[in-house]
Amino acid sequence: MAVGRASSESTGAADTGQSGTSHPGELPRMTKITGIRGMNDISPSQTPAWQMAEHAAREVLATYGYREVRPPIVERTELFRRSVGEGTDIVEKEMYTFTDRGGDSLTLRPECTASCVRAAIEHGWLREGGQRIWHIGPMFRYERPQKGRYRQFHQLDVECLGFPGPDVDAELMLILARLWRRLGLEGLELQINSLGSRPTQARYRELLVEYFQRNRDALDDDSQRRLTTNPLRILDSKNPEMQQIVADAPSILDHLDPAEAAHLDGIRAMLDQAGLAYSLNPRLVRGLDYYTSTVFEWVTNRLGAQNAVCGGGRYDGLVAEVGGGGQSAPAIGFALGMERLVALLEEASIEPPASAPDAYLVAVGDAAAGAAHALAERVRDALPELRLVVDAAPGGMRAKMKRADRSGARMALILGDDEVAARTVSLKPLRSDSQQSAVAWAELPVRLAAEE
Ligand code: HAM
Repeated sequence: MAVGRASSESTGAADTGQSGTSHPGELPRMTKITGIRGMNDISPSQTPAWQMAEHAAREVLATYGYREVRPPIVERTELFRRSVGEGTDIVEKEMYTFTDRGGDSLTLRPECTASCVRAAIEHGWLREGGQRIWHIGPMFRYERPQKGRYRQFHQLDVECLGFPGPDVDAELMLILARLWRRLGLEGLELQINSLGSRPTQARYRELLVEYFQRNRDALDDDSQRRLTTNPLRILDSKNPEMQQIVADAPSILDHLDPAEAAHLDGIRAMLDQAGLAYSLNPRLVRGLDYYTSTVFEWVTNRLGAQNAVCGGGRYDGLVAEVGGGGQSAPAIGFALGMERLVALLEEASIEPPASAPDAYLVAVGDAAAGAAHALAERVRDALPELRLVVDAAPGGMRAKMKRADRSGARMALILGDDEVAARTVSLKPLRSDSQQSAVAWAELPVRLAAEE
């Protein structure tokens, strides 16, 4: 898939030749340029909810000793082919891949685990011992956009590299439970499963293929195709007509070897002791090939079809695969979909703290306009936390006061040329019946602090 809009999705405006396009795939020159389908602008009214979610995540992760990393958004295509896997939807049809000017095949990251693993190997982080790291940022998948599913979306990605578990497996789940509590979110359900090691998966795959072959007529087209490419993913089918055949399929949990079963039991015992409820879902498979052993998702019934808020699991073979076999290390992680988290907050009417200014300074007249910013800076020096907005658009007193009111500020500071001459400002409370009063510039910080 090449970067850019496919022609079938363009605005439909015919290129008559008169308006002219500079390059193939570009819009005709006189057409309004819009954003790309499935890639959203997060508006100023939405960012407070994002910031609240990000802030909570940062704080919770810091308390567990996780450290932030910032890998690049673009990686070699080969990284994702090798890690996420050739047979996955992501690699088969969802990557934004392009050839750069030097002839290298690059891809906008569809996920972040592979980048974290590459960076850890490349910089020798694992030589310093286990690494608990996290990253928040945009990911890119050419999916069919719908509510909760976008082409640019954001993940909080958390990875524990170099730890065999099962303790860190449980820790990751506990971190998420703490994040939900901290944000006030309820109704999220933790589902866990084990996919076993590669040999277990190979044996289980054979059993599954045999079972689905026997029931081939009941499979939809997608599942028929997956029978040869990625049979485990049939278990993930959302088609209602497939649910019975999926429910009757052999369960991976009956085919784990003793060590794998003990690992899963270890997680369950820790979750039980910590009082975190979960359900065991033997049909839980993930859309990326690197998983072995533990997999888990947090799901909700409050977001419609896109019910997974967060997904992750163990990928003990990935360090060796990405590093070309030079090094191996056990690892586990998860990624939380930020759009879905913010949608959940909205659905639960969990509002971020108000972000309206405390004061709004209105200047009328030439002398006042000249003095406004100097006065505002002195106030900011004295009160670094104060949110003070200086009116900036043209208009008379009425228009300016209207903007002051619309800003949500609690106080207007009115500066006219007379006030400048007297070195005062009129302080007018906007959300109470208190009287307007003249305040000397020197007294202003003290008065504003008292109004807080
Ligand atoms: P994933 O299940 O592909 O896993 O994505 C994790 C989460 O990202 C999903 O549960 C969902 O909330 C969100 N998400 C995925 N695709 C979209 C989309 N198109 N639009 C909006 N949100 C989306 C991974 O990406 C793995 N790297 C997780 C992981 C980390 N495993 C181990 N470490």
